[in-house]
Amino acid sequence: DRGGLADGRAHAGETAHGRLAGLDAIAGVGADVARGGFSRHLWNGADLELRAWFTERAGAVGLDVEADRNGNLWAWWGAPGPGAVVTGSHLDSVPGGGAYDGPLGVVSALDAVGRLRASGFQPSKPFAVVVFAEEEGSRFGVACLGSRLMTGVLDPARARSLRDADGVTLAEAGAAVGFDVKGLGADPVALDRIGLFVELHVEQGRGLIDLQAPVALASSVLAHGRWRLEFRGQGNHAGTTLMGDRHDPMIAAARAVEAVRAAALAVPGARATVGRIEAVPGGTNVIASAVRLWLDARADSDDDTRMLVTEIERRAEAASFVEESWSGRVEFDTDLRERLRAVLTRPAAGDATGGAGDASVAGPVSIPVLATGAGHDAGVLAGVVPTAMLFVRNPTGVSHAPEEFAELADCLAGTDALESVLRGLL
Ligand code: GLV
Ligand code: MN
Ligand code: MN
Ligand code: MN
Repeated sequence: DRGGLADGRAHAGETAHGRLAGLDAIAGVGADVARGGFSRHLWNGADLELRAWFTERAGAVGLDVEADRNGNLWAWWGAPGPGAVVTGSHLDSVPGGGAYDGPLGVVSALDAVGRLRASGFQPSKPFAVVVFAEEEGSRFGVACLGSRLMTGVLDPARARSLRDADGVTLAEAGAAVGFDVKGLGADPVALDRIGLFVELHVEQGRGLIDLQAPVALASSVLAHGRWRLEFRGQGNHAGTTLMGDRHDPMIAAARAVEAVRAAALAVPGARATVGRIEAVPGGTNVIASAVRLWLDARADSDDDTRMLVTEIERRAEAASFVEESWSGRVEFDTDLRERLRAVLTRPAAGDATGGAGDASVAGPVSIPVLATGAGHDAGVLAGVVPTAMLFVRNPTGVSHAPEEFAELADCLAGTDALESVLRGLL
């Protein structure tokens, strides 16, 4: 059992996740029976339920929640910014995603605030826990939608006209849940309130498994982007159209999938993926009239990533390419990283009891530093304010899939570090 309520550790009044009980509280929200895992996307039922849950939980630890013009939620301790210390993450998921990508950063932030308040700590700066909207871009195609809109990286007119898989525009989807999309776009007031941002996140690869460590600092995020490729042909009957008479776009699309892999293998460190494919109209007995592929490409530098996509365009010359989103390589703030390193290196208060064999007399611990191939709102904010991230070990090494996991002890090591760093910053 992976720490659900059925876990043997849980007994009356206590959940398997203890301080991070929010993970248990939301474990049924947006569970995707067909795919496994969770499907929590902007303004779907699960997303609305999670927003209500966050508002209630943040209120319970004494924070005042408000929504901004771009659908992000801000839970303030006292009066809002400017120059606030901000932490948080997102609550949406990829289709069939894991339980930790996003929610871990939100529940650990709420736990850290609860403990700071319970200890009588009084912040000398404004403080907020943020939940960014549609980080995964799973409904409307653009990742980090809320943070991109807020920072002005994404044009609001373009955002309003984005369509989901059912053809519903973002403007229509917003109207359906009573959200005023006229206000979307660069939000200098919200931005001005942020002094710095720290995001705690489950690790999404095997870096910490290999290093046998519970927590890492993030150094950088690979350059990455998304492109939509469309191959056109002639729709026709699967039974009556002779093989030699066909204009079947599926063949060129299939070759393009192989070309994506071959092109990525030729660029050291690059990753390229076709994770989504759509045949139009999509009937078993219909030769497609069009095939759409979605390409996710990432590499060490902006230039490598652009070169990789140019090479894929060359190899898949029959396709039209549309860029859906782009994120240049990001380096996190060195001062903030050093602060995180300092709290992670310092022995926890409970360890400093003295005596032979005390862990605190062992040599300095070296804290792993990981570059990541995953995108984050922290990457978007890093262009505007000092930003840093903490990663918590994921013993399966799997993410964006139901198998994603983190041990409670590792989550708490990360949460304790977050609490300490907030204490120092506030
Ligand atoms: C988001 O998690 C991404 O890296 O695609
Ligand atoms: Mn993700
Ligand atoms: Mn995430
Ligand atoms: Mn992400």
